[in-house]
Amino acid sequence: MTVKVEILKPAIGAKVWFDRAQIGDPALSVQLQELLDKHTVLIFPRIGLSDQEQLALTDALGERINITAQVPGKGDAAEVYQVTLDEGANIEAEYVLGTWFWHMDGLTTSVAPPRATMLSARKLAPKGGQTEFASTRAAYAALPDEEKAELEGLRVVHTVTASVREVCGPEALDEARRGMFHVHPLVWTRPNGVKSLVIGSTADRIEGLSQPEARSLLARLLDWTAQPDFSYRHKWEEGDCVIWDNTCALHRVVPYAPESGRMMHRTAIAGLEAVA
Ligand code: OGA
Ligand code: MN
Repeated sequence: MTVKVEILKPAIGAKVWFDRAQIGDPALSVQLQELLDKHTVLIFPRIGLSDQEQLALTDALGERINITAQVPGKGDAAEVYQVTLDEGANIEAEYVLGTWFWHMDGLTTSVAPPRATMLSARKLAPKGGQTEFASTRAAYAALPDEEKAELEGLRVVHTVTASVREVCGPEALDEARRGMFHVHPLVWTRPNGVKSLVIGSTADRIEGLSQPEARSLLARLLDWTAQPDFSYRHKWEEGDCVIWDNTCALHRVVPYAPESGRMMHRTAIAGLEAVA
């Protein structure tokens, strides 16, 4: 099997080339999972996957999960979610506009956060629309020890309402999303000892801290995580597919015009563990 890898930054990002015909080959799946663990964001340049191929690749890498179907009343959401602001295709503008701000997927339900999310570029925006990723693992590792100690034990309330704070008020959200929240530890400690931060736009408040203390701490951690050494901006080309480890990375998209028709097709892989 021939898999070619080009590392983009030490902390995050690698381009990976393989033959689409190899999708489903267990040896390829193992290799991609290892690369995902190591590099957090994998880019498959201009691979041009069909929806069926994207679903097959998703299935080959883990248990497929439908993020949108976790929203109460949306159990019948399409298997491949169309991320777009094009009025003809998507009526969830408030929710999609929330992707313009640093976030992790799937933090506001009791289901374990997705292990990984996959996007295929179907239509590009002429301006904006690049997707940025930031490693919450590299960011945590680089914190001074005394700051790490201060974060230990803190618990953060994540809500959909907070994630659209910059976009709209809670009343603009559909009723199903308005009430969604979940509490996660600020520091995620994996069974193998690796730690990462669980932050982003869904983070609303921290139990036991005043709102100014909580929100300034969350903002400072976001700034820290987004610094260039820990982050990567992907400038999409038609047919690119990107998969990222949603358990140790934030992501957001550079604003784009709704009329551009920018269209991404999204699938996700179930998480193996709750944040602990
Ligand atoms: C998402 C998301 C980013 C993008 O679909 O969850 O964050 O680039 N998308 O569209
Ligand atoms: Mn997202």
